[in-house]
Amino acid sequence: MPPRLVVDRVSKTFVAPEKNGGRIDILRDVSFSVNAGQIVSLIGPTGCGKTTLLRIIDGLIRPDSGQVMVNGKEVKGPKDSSCAMVFQRFNLLPWRNALKNVEFGLEAKGVEPKEREKLAKEYLSLVGLAGYEKYHPHHLSGGMQQRVGLARAIAIKPDVVLLDEPFSSVDLLRRESLQNEVLKILIKTRETGIFVTHNVEEAVFLSDMIISLGTRPGRVKTVYQVNLPRPNENDSDTGIVKTLEERKNLIDSRSEDTYKLILALKGDLTEGTAPREEQVGFRAFA
Ligand SMILES: Nc1ncnc2c1ncn2[C@@H]1O[C@H](COP(=O)(O)OP(=O)(O)O)[C@@H](O)[C@H]1O
Ligand SMILES: [Mg+2]
Repeated sequence: MPPRLVVDRVSKTFVAPEKNGGRIDILRDVSFSVNAGQIVSLIGPTGCGKTTLLRIIDGLIRPDSGQVMVNGKEVKGPKDSSCAMVFQRFNLLPWRNALKNVEFGLEAKGVEPKEREKLAKEYLSLVGLAGYEKYHPHHLSGGMQQRVGLARAIAIKPDVVLLDEPFSSVDLLRRESLQNEVLKILIKTRETGIFVTHNVEEAVFLSDMIISLGTRPGRVKTVYQVNLPRPNENDSDTGIVKTLEERKNLIDSRSEDTYKLILALKGDLTEGTAPREEQVGFRAFA
């Protein structure tokens, strides 16, 4: 069986207006692979190309060279993609209620209306939102909106769930419980997940493996295996919650292994400064 996801020597440049039509290297020779059921974090400074990499994995943009394979099949465009994205700003449709938002991805897949509604209800209930089917996004908290976003993503049974800084728009108080909730759901549904984050502790808490990207151009610096207790998909809900608590405690109490890992990751993040363009908000969409 091939790995669930293979990113093989992916490189990408973009046109840089300040270079008079010249191009800048965004990603260079990025390679890694992810097995089914693994949860991975991509961590790196702002502007190193994390979102670009997720969009390449999702088939939304093509790499200049290299390739992405999901279950051994090359992703050549959005139609080949069997991934689902969860966004930082949720990207829910404001005029649709929670149920209809979850149905959205299923519509695109051509699922029949009756089946669609049934599945959307099931997934809303899985993310703890049974009873909120008729609520529109503006009547839901940030955390609830993000759970609708997650339900929409996993309802289509994707091969890989791509989560681009999914917690950064949620206030600090609710962030921790949402992290727990999302991780629990991914584990229970045996999803393969890739989180983008620039929060070191969050990466350690969420993942089995952390890929740290350097900047300018974005490239794999280090791959870390996270050897912390990990719940099993067959565990009961309380079993999963208990293991996650244990995990959290090891991180918060800075046990020797987690402390070393956190230090190494922080070192990776602070080495080198962010490109100047980022600091002045350069953003040109070709
Ligand atoms: N479509 C585009 N055209 C030109 N430059 C882009 C485009 N998309 C992103 N960039 C630039 O590529 C770099 C990496 O962006 P991004 O992938 O969003 O980084 P990250 O998610 O790690 O913060 C940034 O310098 C950004 O301005
Ligand atoms: Mg980004």
